Parts: sequence; structure tokens; C-alpha cells
Amino acid sequence: MGNIMEVLGIDIGGSGIKAAPVNLQSGEMAAERFRLETPDPSKPKRVAEVIAKMTDHYQWKGKIGCGFPGIVRHGIVHTAANLHKGWLELNADALFEKATGCDVRVINDADAAGLAEMNFGAGRDHHKGVVLMITFGTGIGTAVFLNGVLLPNTEFGHVELDGKDAEKRATAAVRDRKNLTWEEWGGRVNHLLCYLESLFSPDLVILGGGVSKDYKEFFPFIHLNAKLVPAEMRNQAGIIGAALAWSDEIEQQLVLE
Ligand code: BGC
Repeated sequence: MGNIMEVLGIDIGGSGIKAAPVNLQSGEMAAERFRLETPDPSKPKRVAEVIAKMTDHYQWKGKIGCGFPGIVRHGIVHTAANLHKGWLELNADALFEKATGCDVRVINDADAAGLAEMNFGAGRDHHKGVVLMITFGTGIGTAVFLNGVLLPNTEFGHVELDGKDAEKRATAAVRDRKNLTWEEWGGRVNHLLCYLESLFSPDLVILGGGVSKDYKEFFPFIHLNAKLVPAEMRNQAGIIGAALAWSDEIEQQLVLE
């Protein structure tokens, strides 16, 4: 790809869409973050209009990396649990390229957050063994790394727990909606993480999403053999990791064009 220094990183979430130019070498934002609400309904055309506004905001002409809350392979969206169903089987790379006039790479949002943490955050010294990054927000996202290399599009937030989609029981949005105590919610998160640990024995679990800032409240209710740490980059990880889709070393780990 040759020496790209800055990429516009965009993180599409269930409630907000956030962007910032990111320096690929340092993993830092090169300008202040810009946030707009996710349109409701979150139809592709309306989200593309928001992406175009963000590109205009930074007068951006370079590459764009975008995190999307669903399975994305070769730029095509295959699932969208918390967004409009019009996304299914749509070429998101092509849609955003048309809306912005820039080259765009769209990848899964949890994979993006994991790439940021593995390269610049809580996972940077853990490039040996198995690491699970798990994000709690509107949905539950996962990214799995073996010796620092990503296995893209794992969707362990949707395993079945107590006969239900785990995401429906343990996401951060459920804690707010049902007014769960930290102990109640932490117990649900523990249940999910213990199950995942029984499946593939991670050495390290990095817990991310906005709720990770309150980790002291619920980590006491989580009992794993793996080491458990909060994400270091909080809500910047999604933006920074999306930009990393254009990094020379990282693009080889992704399912791009
Ligand atoms: C989606 C994942 C996504 C996660 C976090 C889940 O509902 O299936 O692809 O990573 O939400 O946004």
C-alpha cells in the first residue's frame, strides 16, 4: 500500500457514528473526534449521508477505514443485528465510496477495536497466545487473536446462553434498560465469559466498550482462569482500529477485496 500516514477512521455504532483522522504509526487521533447520531431508522442511504458529512467536516480526500456492527467480508455486509435490515448483502465499501469519493474499507467494529487494543492498547504486549477482545455496547462484539493475528468476524456475542442469544442478556444496553445492579449484570457477563473460556481457553481477555470505564464495579463478579483487563483505548478503539484496515501489516489479516 506504501506509506500512508493518516486515514480517516469511522466507527458506526447502534446509537452514534464517530470519526477522526488517525495516524497509523502512532495510533493516535490527529484531530478532535466528531460524532453524529446514528439515523433512525438506520437505512444504508441515511448512514451513507452521515459518512459523507463526516468526510466534508474534515475536508477529507484520503483513505477511509470504517467499523460496522455486523459480519463484513470483502466489503459486503452479511449481518446487522442492531441496524436496519436493508444492510444485508449490501456492498458497504461501494456505497461509502460513492458517497464520499474516497477509497473505503469496511470491517467489523469489534475486529477494529481489537486491532487497536492489540497494537496500541491493553494487548500490545500480548502477541503470544490467544487473546479475546469483547466489547459491550448496543450489542456484544468479539475479536480473537492468535499470536497477534486476528481471526476476523467471530460473533461470540451471539452464542446461546440460557436458551437465549447472549447479546440479549448481557449487553450494556440491557443493563441500562433493565436497571440491573453491577452484581446482576456482572454475573451475566461472567456466565458468557466462562462459557467462551470453556470453548477456546484464551490467555488474556480485554473487555471494551463504554462500560469498561466502570470495570472496578463489575470485574469482582467475573471469575476466569484467563487474565482479565479493561480496554485502554475506550471509545477511541473503534475509530483507531477502523483506520488500521489500511495499515500494511494489518490488511493481510483482514477479509478485504
Ligand atoms: C454484531 C457484531 C458487532 C457487535 C458490536 C453485534 O450485534 O453481531 O458484529 O461486532 O454487535 O457492535
